[in-house]
Formats: sequence, C-alpha cells, structure tokens
Amino acid sequence: MTFSPTLFDSVETPALLIDRAQMMRNISMMAEFAVKAEVALRPHFKTSKMIEVARLQLQAGAIGFTCATMAEAEALLAAGINDVFWANAPASAQKARFAAEANHTARLAVGIDSVELAAVLSQAAVAADSTIPVILEIDTGLARTGVLAAAADDVAAEIAALPGILLDGVYMHEGQLASLKGTRDEIVAAGTGAASSLVAVAEQLRASGHTISVVSVGSTPGWESAPRVAGVTEARAGTYVFFDANQFRLGSALSAQCAITVLSTVVSVPAADRRVIDAGIKAMSSDRSNRGDTLGLVTAPEGALADDIVFERAYEEHGILNGTGIDELGFGSRVRIIPNHACGVVNMFSRVHVVEGSDVVDIWNPVGRH
Ligand SMILES: Cc1ncc(COP(=O)(O)O)c(C=O)c1O
Repeated sequence: MTFSPTLFDSVETPALLIDRAQMMRNISMMAEFAVKAEVALRPHFKTSKMIEVARLQLQAGAIGFTCATMAEAEALLAAGINDVFWANAPASAQKARFAAEANHTARLAVGIDSVELAAVLSQAAVAADSTIPVILEIDTGLARTGVLAAAADDVAAEIAALPGILLDGVYMHEGQLASLKGTRDEIVAAGTGAASSLVAVAEQLRASGHTISVVSVGSTPGWESAPRVAGVTEARAGTYVFFDANQFRLGSALSAQCAITVLSTVVSVPAADRRVIDAGIKAMSSDRSNRGDTLGLVTAPEGALADDIVFERAYEEHGILNGTGIDELGFGSRVRIIPNHACGVVNMFSRVHVVEGSDVVDIWNPVGRH
C-alpha cells in the first residue's frame, strides 16, 4: 500500500472527493431496484445537496426528491425540480407560506405529525388560495417524530377536516435500523417489519374513508427490505448515492461501493504512535461510528482499506491516526477517509472534487447548506 502524495497532488487538503463512476453505479443500482420492487424512487436530497447529482438521479428514473430544510426545497424548486416531499416539520408561518405558494407551480408535499402543524399549513394555504398535499408521519420505532399507529386514525380525521390541505398518504423514516447491532438478516427483518406496520396503518386509514395514495418508506439501512413490502408505493433512501462507513458496517454496502472520501495529508509526526492529519471535525463532521468509536475508515489514496490504521479522535482541524499501520505514514503522506456519515460531511464543504480514477474531472458545489 502506498500513501504517496502524488495522487491528486494538485488538490489542496482536506478535500471532499466524489468518485463519479462509483456514484453512477450506486444511482443505477437503486433505480433498478426500485423498478423491480415496483416503487417510485424519491431519494433524499440532504445526502448530496448537489443539483448535478439530483439530475443524474432523475435521469436514472427518480420521480422527484425528499428534502429536510427550506433551503433544500428552494434549491430543488429553483432548479426546476418540481416534485418534492419536505419531510421535516415546517412549523412556522413563514415556512408554511413558502409551502403554500410553492404549490401554485409545483408539488411540494409536506410531512406532518400533528394537528397543530396541519393547522399552521391549513391557514397558510387558505391565505394563499392554494392546496398543500400532506403526508402523515407514522412512528414505526425510531421514536423521533411521527404519530403512533394507534393514534393515526384520530389524527387523520382532524387533519382531513381542515381546509387547504389534502391528506395524501403516510410515511416513515425507519432510521431505527441504523442503530441495530445485529446481523444483516436481523436488519432486513426489522425493515420488513416496520414497513408492514406502515402498510397496516395505510389500510386502516383507507377503511376510515381517507384516500391514501402514498405509502412511503425511506432509509439506506432498509433500502432493500422496506420497499419490497406489498403496499409500499415509494422509497426515499438518500445515503445510498454515496454510501458511507456506517452503511458499510451495517451491511448495506461493501466498502468498495462508497463513493465519498475525504482526502487528507499527514501534517505532523509528533510521536511514534501518532500521526496528525489535516482532516478534523470541520472536515469529517462529529458523527461517530455506529459500531466502535472512530471517525471513518482510512484508505490509501488509490482506495485500498488500511484496516491497521485507526482514525481515533479529532479536533477542529486535526485528526489523530494510530494503529500498527501508521509506520507507513510519513510527513506529507496522504490518506483518503471514508466518512462515517456522508450527509454530515457534504454539508461541511462548499466545493466537491469529482474524480475518475486519479483525475479530477469536475468541481461541484453543494447548495442549501444553511
Ligand atoms: C425523513 C427521512 N427520509 C429518508 C431519509 C434517508 O435515510 P438515509 O440517510 O438512511 O438514506 C432520512 C434520513 O435521515 C429521513 O430523515
């Protein structure tokens, strides 16, 4: 394994690299999977935050995008992508007004989990003479937002009675799969179980007279399980576009399928058992590993995993590597690190180097970062 500084020597570090060929394989794989599972693909935009990537996902068959923030929704709509699901409570009059007005020219569906939030949206929609499609979030085990299945019927009845909003479906984010420590089979079973609960809620709401056209699931740990459940209509995985070290540890992907790395340089060799690199928390984000406690998987610049090097801790601009493999790292050596969590890392960079093999072929800029 060589950690020679010649590969990508024109790139200042720390730098975020996206391997275009691998990303394209990830995009195709998920698009083909969605076709086979007979679900619409609505990837989460918070992972790439790049319109260039979104366009490639659309070309491969995505029907639109999921987003988390108003800035992401604005960026997608400004790029002419006009089928967006905003899956994060827009709980202010200003955000509700934005959603209402956006629905004059596009479809901006909004995820909701309370009658209070529905009322805010309803008021804005009536004022703007608009209709906001809303999708009711069901908590199938994440214990974040969402209503429990037992409460769904009552909440749906109150929402449906409000003017200006149209209850159009149910959704879940099965993020609880990301903290499971069991085997891949157990993670797959948990994804299937969560989606089955969601489908049961959809059926119950239909029996109560609601038109539930969207039954939407979404996560990368559950990418090949939840969408396969009969009755699911839509899948919203996001991280799959790049994958990352956490998904590798969860068995969602092989390390070779990770298309995102942070290129970093050894800037100090202060002790025999320690190498200091220029990628700290401001490059890697502070997302710790879901198994063990490292800041990412260290590889050589050409991509081979260096299992014997551990990214042990980080300060703002300094990362600390140790492990038996660091003997091969001298001052100026370069490493590439597969980050634990792609979404957080993209948000740290305003410029992304798109690479093919050893060549930088493009520079892209994440949008909607704030
Ligand atoms: C509502 C929602 N949908 C979909 C996703 C995508 O999940 P993942 O990042 O595991 O692909 C997320 C991620 O946090 C989410 O919050």
